[in-house]
Amino acid sequence: MTPDVVRVDFAGRSYDIKIGEGLLEGVASHIAPFINRKFVAIVTDQNVAAAHLKTLQNTLQDGGIASKAIILPAGEATKSYGHFAEVCDGLLNAGVERKDSMIALGGGVIGDLTGFAAATLRRGVNFIQIPTSLLAQVDSSVGGKTGINSKLGKNLIGAFHQPRLVLIDLAVLNTLPQRQRAAGYAEVVKYGLLGHEEFYDWLDDNVTAIMAGDVAATKHAVKTSCQMKARIVALDETETGERALLNLGHTFGHALEAATGYSDTLLHGEAVAIGMVQAFGFSEMLGHCEQGLSRKVAQHLRRAGLPTHVSDIAAKLPAPAALLKLMYQDKKAEGGKLTFILASAIGKTFIAKGVEEAGVLAFLEQDAVKTGLAKP
Ligand code: GLY
Repeated sequence: MTPDVVRVDFAGRSYDIKIGEGLLEGVASHIAPFINRKFVAIVTDQNVAAAHLKTLQNTLQDGGIASKAIILPAGEATKSYGHFAEVCDGLLNAGVERKDSMIALGGGVIGDLTGFAAATLRRGVNFIQIPTSLLAQVDSSVGGKTGINSKLGKNLIGAFHQPRLVLIDLAVLNTLPQRQRAAGYAEVVKYGLLGHEEFYDWLDDNVTAIMAGDVAATKHAVKTSCQMKARIVALDETETGERALLNLGHTFGHALEAATGYSDTLLHGEAVAIGMVQAFGFSEMLGHCEQGLSRKVAQHLRRAGLPTHVSDIAAKLPAPAALLKLMYQDKKAEGGKLTFILASAIGKTFIAKGVEEAGVLAFLEQDAVKTGLAKP
């Protein structure tokens, strides 16, 4: 079946996002235009390797392309200096040359780490994203943000390095645990909330189908998300303006991820879900949007099985003042002041720079004493 194609426009560095079912089986022909010789290096994690690596390598081999795979542990902790060095040395040992291509086969962690290795190895080699989680398919594989975490914060070491191709095979989502699907769904909802009310309304009607794995609904959700992301990043590759809207819920969410040690206690998408509800709650408190929107957003996210309030996190969180401190590692902080993405309505958001710390603290204190919605 011919895949749907979303083009990401960057002068001289434009690329396609191909979306379809079973694309892994035709991988050799999809990547052929981007490889300089019949060899690719693959970076993946143990879980994804168990499910898809053999298929990928066999299909490449059938297409006459040799490959060498580096398999890393699964989980956010892999986005570290140590594993970055392991990947770079592994690729050099595998004989990767300046004109070779790498494949990132995995979720956001593998895509970010592999992309960063590609940005720096021999001062930059090509890479192809084959995202295997819903989160990576709709967000992290598109737009060229690559990087690793520092113990001081998430994604603080990185580079912009665009892939040559993003190959989204919806069939790989069949092996994705439901919790991971929900975490990815949070980023899908983000597009509706940040700038596409109609899409949000469509999601409201289709959340159950998407969570149940309905292929047509999932394809529409993934394609619309990629179209929105492609449009935004093409206008603002290095986030000097509008791209920051993609961080809706992330200033709050990153602090929660840092507070829970970037662990499985709270997945990135789960932190974003709670953070988006907080962003709407904070917008309500500041009088930017009507009361009750945060509750509406929370109810929607609950239907996907997502946590929506700090009380849903199975860990003792630091006090609001300490959470506030964690927010200062956010990359959007400027001149020691915090930046938030706030909302005036569903589908209407804006960048708020220099937000007063006292207001954020008051919101966090008020939010901490509220309880979450009843579990579905
Ligand atoms: N994940 C947000 C961005 O790519 O800008």
